[in-house]
Amino acid sequence: MFGILFASFESMSTTLTLTFKFLSENPRVVEELRVEHEAIVKKRENPNSRLTWEEYRSMTFTQMVVNETLRISNIPPGLFRKALKDFQVKGFTVPAGWTVMLVTPATQLNPETFKDPVTFNPWRWQDLDQVTISKNFMPFGGGTRQCAGAEYSKLVLSTFLHILVTNYSFTKVKGGDVSRTPIISFGDGIHIKFTARA
Ligand SMILES: *[C@@H]1O[C@H](CO)[C@@H](O)[C@H](O)[C@H]1NC(C)=O
Ligand SMILES: *[C@@H]1O[C@H](CO)[C@@H](O)[C@H](O)[C@H]1NC(C)=O
Repeated sequence: MFGILFASFESMSTTLTLTFKFLSENPRVVEELRVEHEAIVKKRENPNSRLTWEEYRSMTFTQMVVNETLRISNIPPGLFRKALKDFQVKGFTVPAGWTVMLVTPATQLNPETFKDPVTFNPWRWQDLDQVTISKNFMPFGGGTRQCAGAEYSKLVLSTFLHILVTNYSFTKVKGGDVSRTPIISFGDGIHIKFTARA
């Protein structure tokens, strides 16, 4: 039951709430998102046409923002794997059959890979190569057991950002304090004021 609620409701709503927190604290990121998305809208032959797959694939900076949010948020506190054979870690033997918890926040917030790891900096993704990314960034797990909703969630977040920055301005009213229990929670939430853009 926990798994169903976590995967379907908690993960997406938490990520979106965090997105608002990070964006409202980093106006430069919102500006750059707006440049990217207004360029997409301007390029359209028919201004009323909907977002296309090609447009989605062209959202480079948006993908950096999504990755950076997922990296810091660490929605799942870790991943479980089963040891198939005995192996050694720092002199300890983990016997075959044991369940191992891989703590992804430890890699996603490792200062050797991600400088100033708790700073929200989407531009850092420009300098990361695919090998480093795949070994240190596992917001959806890895291998054949990667979350089935991985691509879908990124698409939803990017579409949300597209509509948000092209059609609305927003400012934080109050809130945005984050705690972990170990799931992320927001205390008093985060209050956002929206204004439609002309
Ligand atoms: C975002 O992360 C994925 C791995 O989940 C990676 O393949 C992709 O290159 C990253 N995107 C950017 C723009 O860095
Ligand atoms: C965004 O704004 C444009 C232009 O005003 C409008 O055509 C479009 O329907 C709006 N989209 C959404 C999802 O509100």
